[in-house]
Amino acid sequence: MKSRKSRKGKASAGERATAGVPTGVVGLGLMGISIATCLLAAGHPVAGIDLDGRKRRSAAGRIRALLEEMRRQKLLRERPVAVLRRFAAADDYAALRDAQVVVEAITENVETKKRVIASVEAAVGPATIIGSNTSAIPISLLQKDAAYPERVLGTHWAEPAHVTRFMEIICGEQTDPQNAECVRVLSRFWGKEASIVRRDIRGFITNRCMYALLREAFHLVESGYATIEDVDRSLRNDFGYWITFAGPFRYMDLTGVPAYETVMRDLLPELCRSTEVPRLISDVVKSGAQGVANARGFYKYTPASARRWEKRFLEFTYDIRALALKYPGDSGERAGARPRAGKTVGQ
Ligand SMILES: NC(=O)c1ccc[n+]([C@@H]2O[C@H](COP(=O)([O-])OP(=O)(O)OC[C@H]3O[C@@H](n4cnc5c(N)ncnc54)[C@H](O)[C@@H]3O)[C@@H](O)[C@H]2O)c1
Repeated sequence: MKSRKSRKGKASAGERATAGVPTGVVGLGLMGISIATCLLAAGHPVAGIDLDGRKRRSAAGRIRALLEEMRRQKLLRERPVAVLRRFAAADDYAALRDAQVVVEAITENVETKKRVIASVEAAVGPATIIGSNTSAIPISLLQKDAAYPERVLGTHWAEPAHVTRFMEIICGEQTDPQNAECVRVLSRFWGKEASIVRRDIRGFITNRCMYALLREAFHLVESGYATIEDVDRSLRNDFGYWITFAGPFRYMDLTGVPAYETVMRDLLPELCRSTEVPRLISDVVKSGAQGVANARGFYKYTPASARRWEKRFLEFTYDIRALALKYPGDSGERAGARPRAGKTVGQ
């Protein structure tokens, strides 16, 4: 599955061949469905495994809805019905026998994920790469009892996986770096601009940074310095204006590095370093609020306004994706490009 780009930056024959590589997705919940959609749209056959019969029966319909939306957004050239012919749902792991890459997207639980990895290993050949979509479980833990731990790695997708360009590929202690590189090459077909986390660390890159930000945001609200609305407004209008264009290091380059060093001297000692879960989030969770999913969260919603927020968020996801493609990242590659062999367009 190794491939190289041609000098003109176009997809090589090797890359074109990868579009037909059989893949598998275990867990057909929220993320498994959008991951399967992404793989199917890129041209892969996908075997989907879920133990829950309702999830299996509804899988094709849910994928179809996402594919139709991709086509409306001009991200898919093929007809959804044709794409869906490459998908089959099963409860038996034997359906994964031909898969060369399997992504696990089941419930976040170490023991269950380890059992799933064992079941996948029993079904596939020794060279098949197994990616876990864990949010924060160290990959080294998941690969501990694996028969071939070198092929187990983290593939951290962001929802909705068929739209977002984010992917972190995480190497556990025993992961063969060549397998991480292989997934990085493949991920270009999936429309991703992947980062590799070279040493396993809980939370990987974005979740570590995100939770540091959340801790400070809760601290500001709980200590009465600002309201929830004001924190949200400030971050949207500051980070929101540059973070899709530049990461923090590029941003410091763009705006002058020395000032950041000066500010760090005084500010870092004053930032929140609490190791407790903030009371505010615990109270909101205890009240039964889930966010827009049940129209109760940090903000007030009616069922209709919650649906409106969800819809607008999805629209924004497509808009910001288009904007990000206009300003590709810093890898020196044609970062926005999905190799032409894929069945999708406008990548
Ligand atoms: N939801 C997100 O935005 C998000 C983002 C990044 C990573 N993740 C991670 O992705 C994983 C899945 O999250 P989700 O939100 O899709 O969860 P989900 O609850 O929507 O889906 C999990 C699915 O796994 C199935 N499942 C459970 N045990 C199984 C087993 N032993 N074999 C086969 N199928 C099994 C369930 O039936 C369900 O369909 C989690 O590890 C989560 O932390 C989620």
